[in-house]
Amino acid sequence: MKGLILSGGAGTRLRPITHTRAKQLVPIANKPILFYGIEAMAEAGIREIGIIVGDTRDEIIAAVGDGSQFGVKVTYIPQDAPLGLAHCVLIARDFLKDDDFVMYLGDNMLEQNLTQFVSGFQSKRTSSNPPSAQILLCEVEDASHFGVAVVNKDGHVTDLEEKPKKPRSNLALVGVYLFDKSIHVAVSSIKPSARGELEITDAIQWLVDNKHVVHHEVLEGWWIDTGKKDPLLECNRLVLDVIESDNNGTVDDASRVEGRVRIMDGAKIENSRVRGPVVIGRNAVIVNSYIGPYTSVGDDCTIADTDIEHSVVLSRSSISGAGRLVDSLIGYDVAVKRTEALPKAHRLMLGDDSIVEIG
Ligand code: TTP
Repeated sequence: MKGLILSGGAGTRLRPITHTRAKQLVPIANKPILFYGIEAMAEAGIREIGIIVGDTRDEIIAAVGDGSQFGVKVTYIPQDAPLGLAHCVLIARDFLKDDDFVMYLGDNMLEQNLTQFVSGFQSKRTSSNPPSAQILLCEVEDASHFGVAVVNKDGHVTDLEEKPKKPRSNLALVGVYLFDKSIHVAVSSIKPSARGELEITDAIQWLVDNKHVVHHEVLEGWWIDTGKKDPLLECNRLVLDVIESDNNGTVDDASRVEGRVRIMDGAKIENSRVRGPVVIGRNAVIVNSYIGPYTSVGDDCTIADTDIEHSVVLSRSSISGAGRLVDSLIGYDVAVKRTEALPKAHRLMLGDDSIVEIG
């Protein structure tokens, strides 16, 4: 069993904080989204992973390297343009050979691990009517923004549609799929969709239409497609809900740390109160501040004379004298500071698509 992770295709929804950076490397609880997928594969026993890389390839390669930090071997597969999820399978042919594989969208996060999903498929593959694919589905309220599957009473998938105006079920496709080699014939047999992409839903429909068995499993726990709207704070909250305390930094006598708080190496907390769940990144400095529940402070950040909660602050940002911040998403290398300069006013330098609410 091999793994294929998709990280090509530029992110749009996270643009205010990612610009040209890889959206898959945006950290959730201070760990890049992509790493959760790689770790889930490694935990499921997968040792060879192909990663589809696009415009942001240099950044992805710098972060993931040869995969040895995860105990896996990574092969990079360049994609010239984001021509669709099925196109990714097409260009990964030499890497995948005829092996079964799990395909994982690099901007998706699941609570459930992959072990049972993968081992369930492997054991069904030796049955008398083995599935050629297995998809993971999640019940959603409005399926019209997703790939949608219709399942018959035997649990077999009969129909798939990409973002239907009138969904025929409430089962959305989660970004994790299992395939055997039949998918290679499927992806070379389909034509690009109206949006010009080779759709994986069309390839799976091709399998169904050509008498292949497609199984499904309904997801347990949460799933977040971080490419969809406003997911980052929500995802941060879900991940922080299950972190464990760990203190590798220093907390002075004037500070109080309550609840589950993970303090990374070199972080310093001085005259401050931290109430978990919270993650404080490497070498971050917190001075005269309150860090409230569901906050992730990135590596090398400084927070001084500020109250902040339910927020994500990415690496190397500094916030000083900012009063009280809530529900905030602060990008990389941002400076927020109080000034006595006249005229007394807010002075802003904001990137594209930024949102500031002044209360
Ligand atoms: P998305 O563009 O989010 O794919 P989607 O079909 O889920 O999104 P949409 O809501 O627009 O239908 O990409 C999912 C992941 O796959 C993301 O990590 C980028 C990657 N990807 C590629 O590597 N190559 C591609 O051609 C595409 C389309 C996506």
